[in-house]
Formats: sequence, structure tokens, C-alpha cells
Amino acid sequence: MKYLQFTNGDKIPQLGLGTWKSSDEEVKDAVIAAIKAGYRHIDCAPIYNNEKAIGEAFAYCFENGLVSRKELFVTSKLWNNAHAKEDVVPAIKKTLDDLNLNYLDLFLIHWPVAFQAEVVFPSAPNEFVSLEDAPLTQTWQGMIEAKEAGLTKHIGVSNFSTKKLEQLLMAFPEHKVEMNQVELHPYLQQNEVFKFCQEHSILVTGYSPLGSGDRPESNKKDNEPSLLNNETVLAIAQEEKATAGQVLLSWHLHRGTVVIPKSTNEQRIKENLAAVDLMLTASQLERIEALNQNYRFVDGSFFTPEGSPYTLDNLWDNENY
Ligand code: A2P
Repeated sequence: MKYLQFTNGDKIPQLGLGTWKSSDEEVKDAVIAAIKAGYRHIDCAPIYNNEKAIGEAFAYCFENGLVSRKELFVTSKLWNNAHAKEDVVPAIKKTLDDLNLNYLDLFLIHWPVAFQAEVVFPSAPNEFVSLEDAPLTQTWQGMIEAKEAGLTKHIGVSNFSTKKLEQLLMAFPEHKVEMNQVELHPYLQQNEVFKFCQEHSILVTGYSPLGSGDRPESNKKDNEPSLLNNETVLAIAQEEKATAGQVLLSWHLHRGTVVIPKSTNEQRIKENLAAVDLMLTASQLERIEALNQNYRFVDGSFFTPEGSPYTLDNLWDNENY
């Protein structure tokens, strides 16, 4: 396994298992298969509706000596209906309870988007809360409390623009954002965000590295480009006797980000982990860099219905969407 380091020296395995879209029925076996195969990093979130099943997998693995808690890196996220400062600690406690853990390694603000408390997903525009009414700085104070209470070792954010990162860095110089998890792949290389994060010692995790082809149809646009069938990616896969998925994942590892491919298929779980051993040449990496087209598969438009305080412009702050 390859690792990146937080500023305090703690390590995060560079390749982890994603669990978004993994059903409750499938995810327990997927997590156990991943841990047996050698994964030591599992990415979770309460909105994926499967944390209890993942908790069963962790309990099975600990009881059967497949892995110890210390060897495992577990991330989860704060959902949009718990952004009030006082709601953060109860939210992480619920997640810990579901996951059968007593601490997380990393806890992230899932989106810079707030909902009314108790609303899982707004069905009307008035169920959103604007960032003026639910400032991210207050949410961050709750995140700091969770860390200081020992409920998580590290804290960070997800889907944040450089503008929003800067706001938190300036407001909390003593409690810096440690991770920004964003959509990342050759079609959306996020060079600006990545450079900003490097300059401020913020690690970056890439989600949807394979294009998340199993998203619900309602989340898809017409004529989406395919990463796994991209000609350049396929050609490099052939040159290296690897698969397209492995080439896509290896690109992240070379670039120095964390990557969390989702799979519930044992064969592909193993295949994805083997990307850690795939070395690409400088010229192969350049050919992949040339594929950037600032294309988002997950553009956040589900947060921007008519009447919502969120628009694609204020969500991404005009940075690459
Ligand atoms: P499955 O779970 O059946 O393996 P992302 O990580 O970008 O969200 O992509 C997840 C999607 O990609 C899922 O449909 C998953 O299916 C599929 N997938 C995972 N690993 C591979 C792979 N190595 N090759 C092709 N498809 C993959």
C-alpha cells in the first residue's frame, strides 16, 4: 500500500474502498472482501444509507482478527441537515454507533450546502438553508469540537472550492482543514483546487474516479463521456497489460492524491487494489493529463432547483463546473 501523510505525521492509505451506491445487502460482503484483499481504508457517509451494514463488516473483521482498529483508516461525513454547530457532535456519534466504532480517522463536511434539521433531502426550496443563515464557519466549530472530544482524529471538507477553503483557513488558522474530497479523474483534473490544497498542506481525495457509472439515471446527463472506454486510457491499459480501471486509479496515485473507487464485486475490488503496483511512464501520464475537459459527473444540480439559495455558480464559485 502507498500512503500520504497528514501534517502531524499520521498516514492515510492512498487507495480506499468507496461505498457510495453500495447497497445495504452488498456492502457488508464488499467491505469484508476488501479488508481480506488488503484494503485498509474505507470511505463512508450516513447519506449512503449503509453505515450499519458496514459496521457489521467491521465488527466481523475485528472479531475474526482480519484487521485491528488501529490498522484501519475510516472516513465518514457530516450530512447537510446537521450543519448547526450543536448538531455536529450528535451526528458523528450516530455515525460511530452505526459503524460500531469509537472514533473515526477522518470526518468531513460532506457538502457546502445546508438543509433544515431533520430534512434528509429537500422536497421544497424552503427546506434548504442558505450559507448566510448556516455559515460554514459555525459548522467548522462543531467539527473542531468533535476532534477535540476524540471522536475523530482528523477533520476536513468535501466539494469545497478554493474560495470556501480560504474562508475556513483564514477564520481558523489553528484548526486547518486537513482534507478536501472532490470529484477527480482525467476529465476533471481540478488543477486549481489541487494546487491550492498542496500549497496549504491540505490532502486531496478523488471521488468518482471511474465515472460512477452506477449513479441513478436521474443524476446522469445525456451523452456523458466514458472514462473506462476512453481510447487513450484503453491504449495505455493495453501497453501495460492492465485494465482501464487500473490506469485511471494509477494516475491518482502518481499525482499524489487519495482515491476511493467503489466496487461491490470481489474481482474488481482486487483489481482496483492492484493499481497500487502499476507504474506509468511520464509520457503516459502526459497523455492522460491531455484528457482534461473540466467535466463533472456529479455537478450538484440536485441542490439547485428553482427557489433554492444554491446555484451552480455559488456552489462551485465558478471554479470548473
Ligand atoms: P461494481 O460495483 O459492480 O464493481 P466510481 O468509483 O467512479 O463511483 O465507479 C463505480 C462504478 O464502477 C460501479 O458501477 C462499479 O461497479 C464500477 N467499477 C468498479 N471498479 C471497476 C473496474 N475496475 N472496472 C470497471 N468498472 C468498475
